[in-house]
Amino acid sequence: MTYQVIIPAAGQGKRMGAGKNKLLLELNSIPVLIHSLKVFEEDELCEGIILAIHPQDEAEFHSLLQKYGVKKVLGLIPGGKERQDSIYNALKTVKNDGIILVHDAARPFIKKEHIHRLLDTAQETGAAIIGVPAKDTMKTVRDHKVMATVERSSLWAVQTPQAFRFSLLIRAYEQAENDSFIGTDDSSLVERIPYPVTMVEGDYDNIKLTTQEDLYFAEAIIKKRQGSN
Ligand code: CTP
Ligand code: MG
Repeated sequence: MTYQVIIPAAGQGKRMGAGKNKLLLELNSIPVLIHSLKVFEEDELCEGIILAIHPQDEAEFHSLLQKYGVKKVLGLIPGGKERQDSIYNALKTVKNDGIILVHDAARPFIKKEHIHRLLDTAQETGAAIIGVPAKDTMKTVRDHKVMATVERSSLWAVQTPQAFRFSLLIRAYEQAENDSFIGTDDSSLVERIPYPVTMVEGDYDNIKLTTQEDLYFAEAIIKKRQGSN
């Protein structure tokens, strides 16, 4: 079965401090945005990409899509104030009721193998997300005072893509809007319907580029992949 993917790319990359959208930074001479899109462009199960963008980036993104031959983009949709607004704008343009993935443009290292594993699970269950078990010991802290040590075996770090049946995801977004609820991922909106979400184990390479030091990790991942090709 095939899917469509919404890619939120309408942020400003403030924490990266690059003076422009971090998605325009290059890794191995190719913009982060293109790394992230290429995986879906080359995936035979991906029917189309809906890209949420900031109006100030439109001309530049448009010319990058042309330059790198990205053909699956069905629409460039204006993003909103929050990531959730950007995705909601994109979601409203989807027409068919199949599986929808949401993947942050700031995660350029997602692998096709993991997308397909996620897709299979979402087809079975309606809602699946990808993540990795937490490696550090985790504590809850208030005003620099340790409140508790959380049992690590039940903690997972959550990534994207996240995959849902379209009818379920749009219902979750509508409900969140009615309740003025802003979540930090799509799953949290679906969870509060409530609807059960299944976790699929991904890998630690699927990092989000957020701050400057993430670029060092990104270079290392690229080197590792070049070495294994
Ligand atoms: N995003 C979006 N619309 C927004 C905010 C974020 O589409 N209003 C996108 C970003 O472009 C990114 C993804 O959501 O691909 C994850 O967001 P984040 O890593 O926070 O990126 P930015 O918001 O760009 O960075 P910052 O929060 O540091 O400004
Ligand atoms: Mg942000």
